[in-house]
Amino acid sequence: MASAPAEKWWKNSIIYQIYPASFKDSNGDGIGDLNGILSELDYIASLGVDAIWICPMYDSPQYDMGYDISDYQKVYAPYGTVEDMQTLIDACHAKGLRIILDLVVNHTSHEHAWFKESRSSKTSAKRDWYIWRPAKYDANGKRCPPNNWRAIFGGSAWEWDETTEEYYLHLFCVEQPDLNWENPDVRKTVHKDVMEFWLNKGVDGFRVDTVNMYSKDPAYPDAPVLSPESETQVAFSLFCNGPRIHEYIREMNEVLEKYDAMTVGELAQTPTMEGVLRYVSAAKKELNMVFSFDVVDLGMGKDYKFLTGKRNWALPEMKTAIQRTQNILNGTDGWTTVFMENHDQARSVSRFGSDKTPEARDASAKMLAIFQCTLSGTQFVYQGQEIGMVNAPEEWGVEEYKDVDSTNYYHMVREMSNNDPDKLKEALQAMQHLARDHSRLPMQWSAEPNAGFSPPSAKPWMRAHDNHTEINVQAQNDNSSSVLSFWKKMLRLRKEYADLFVFGIFELLDEQNGEVFSYMKKSGGKSVLVALNFSDTPQKVEQVEGRGWELLISSVGEEASAGDANLQPWEGRIYEASF
Ligand code: GLC
Ligand code: CA
Repeated sequence: MASAPAEKWWKNSIIYQIYPASFKDSNGDGIGDLNGILSELDYIASLGVDAIWICPMYDSPQYDMGYDISDYQKVYAPYGTVEDMQTLIDACHAKGLRIILDLVVNHTSHEHAWFKESRSSKTSAKRDWYIWRPAKYDANGKRCPPNNWRAIFGGSAWEWDETTEEYYLHLFCVEQPDLNWENPDVRKTVHKDVMEFWLNKGVDGFRVDTVNMYSKDPAYPDAPVLSPESETQVAFSLFCNGPRIHEYIREMNEVLEKYDAMTVGELAQTPTMEGVLRYVSAAKKELNMVFSFDVVDLGMGKDYKFLTGKRNWALPEMKTAIQRTQNILNGTDGWTTVFMENHDQARSVSRFGSDKTPEARDASAKMLAIFQCTLSGTQFVYQGQEIGMVNAPEEWGVEEYKDVDSTNYYHMVREMSNNDPDKLKEALQAMQHLARDHSRLPMQWSAEPNAGFSPPSAKPWMRAHDNHTEINVQAQNDNSSSVLSFWKKMLRLRKEYADLFVFGIFELLDEQNGEVFSYMKKSGGKSVLVALNFSDTPQKVEQVEGRGWELLISSVGEEASAGDANLQPWEGRIYEASF
C-alpha cells in the first residue's frame, strides 16, 4: 500500500481545533474549561487525529473571546490554571497527541500591564510599546483620527485616549491595542516571556494569529476611499504584509527552531501564490504553513463581510480558490493547509453543503469529509465538524449572537439606518449565514439538555443548538452510518493513501461545471479521481465512463453507488485508477 514520504511530523498530521469556551464544561458554570478538554482526550484520540490546537486560554477580559490577552503567563480563571495546562500538555503527550497553542501578539488587551503603563503618560517607559499618534484637525477645527483606517470589527482603527490626549491604534476592537513591533524590546519580550514561556512547558508549536499584520506602513497614509459615504475605509493593503514583516517572522523562527516547534500562520489578504510562498517556502525559514482565506472568504461582502446575500458564490469560484491553496506545494519547497471551518467561520455544512433537511445535511457533511480528506496539506478539523454540526437555527433572534464582530455590525446598521426594520432584517440574515457565533455554539455531546456540554441545570454561555437531540457524539458513536463514523473512516483512509491525499499533486477537472467538483490527485504514476456533487439533484460523473476507474469509496455507501455513473444529491466519491 501507499507509503508516505519521510517528512516532518506536521505534514502528514490531522490537527483538531478546540475552542475552550465551547468544548466541555466540567464544573457547571456554563463555560468550557481545561478539565473538560482533559476529560475528552480519549474521544479526541479516537478520531485518529495527531494533535490538538487550543484557541487562547490565557487571562483575558474576553472582549474578543480571549484574543485580547491581559497576561500571557496566566490562564483565564474560568478555564483553569497554568498547572492545569501543564497537566493537559503532559496528558496529550502521554497519549501520543501533540498540542499547539494560539500565539496572539499583534495586540494585547487594554488591560495588559504593558498597555496600562504605556497609556499612563507620554514619558512612560512603555509608551513606545504601542502605536500612539497625535490628533489631526479638519478645516472646522474638529479633532480627527490620524488616518481613515477602518478597524476589522468596524469603526475607526484609532481610539482617543484622554489621559495623554493621543490616539492609539487598534486593528481589531477598541480593547485590543496593537503592539509596536518596531520596538526591539517588544519583540524580545514576545520571544522570551510569551513564546519561550510556553515552549518550555512542552507545547509543540503555535497557530500564529494575524501573522502578517505586525508591520504597518510606517507613514500611516490614508487608505483609498472606496466608500465615500463612510468616514472609515478598508485599509488591509496598508497594514498587511508591511515592509518589515519578514524580518519579524524570521526572528520568531529563530526562537522556534531551537525547540523544533511547528507554526501555522493566519494569513489574511494574501491571495497570490508568490505572496504566500514568501512565508512558507522552507528556504525562507519563516513559517511552516499558513491558513489562506481563499475558501473561507467565498461569498463575503468586500466592504463589510455581512454586506452580502446568502450563498453569494458559485462553485467554479470555489474550485479556483482550492486550486490556489493546493498549488502552493506543487514544485515548490512550501507547504499548505486544508480547512473549511474554524472559530471565525460559520459551519461548512450550512455554507457549502445543505442544512435544509436531515438527509441533505448528513449527505453533504460526508461529501465535505471526502473533500477535505483528499486535499493535500496539513489537515485541520474544527470541533463539531466531525459530527456535522450546522449553523444556529434561523428562528434564533439577534440576542443569541454574542460575538463582537456580529454585534458591532448589527449596532452599526441600527444606527446608520435609524432602526430601519428591513435593513436590520437583512443584517440578521447575513449573520445567520456568516457569523462567527455559529462555530461557538456548545459542542453537542449528547441529547441531554445543554447537549451534554454543561450539566442540565447549568446555563451555558451560548445556547445549545436545538438540534442537539439529533446531532450529537453519543448517538453517532454508536451508529456505523453516522457522519462521525464516516469522518473517522475518511481520516484513516487519508493516512493509508497519504502519498496521494496528503502529498499528491492536485489537478482540477471540468472547471466550469457549476454542480460537480471533480479533480485528480497524482503521485508517482498513481492517481485517484474525486467527484463531489455540490447540488441537491443527481449529477453525472463524465470522466468515469468507459475508463478503468474503480470505486474506492462513496459517501452514500459502496453498494448504493456500484455501477451507477450518477452521483446522488450531495454524494462524494473517490475512484482509483486501475489502468
Ligand atoms: C484572528 C482570530 C480571531 C480574532 C482576531 C483578533 O483573526 O482568529 O478570532 O478575533 O484574530 O485577534
Ligand atoms: Ca466550566
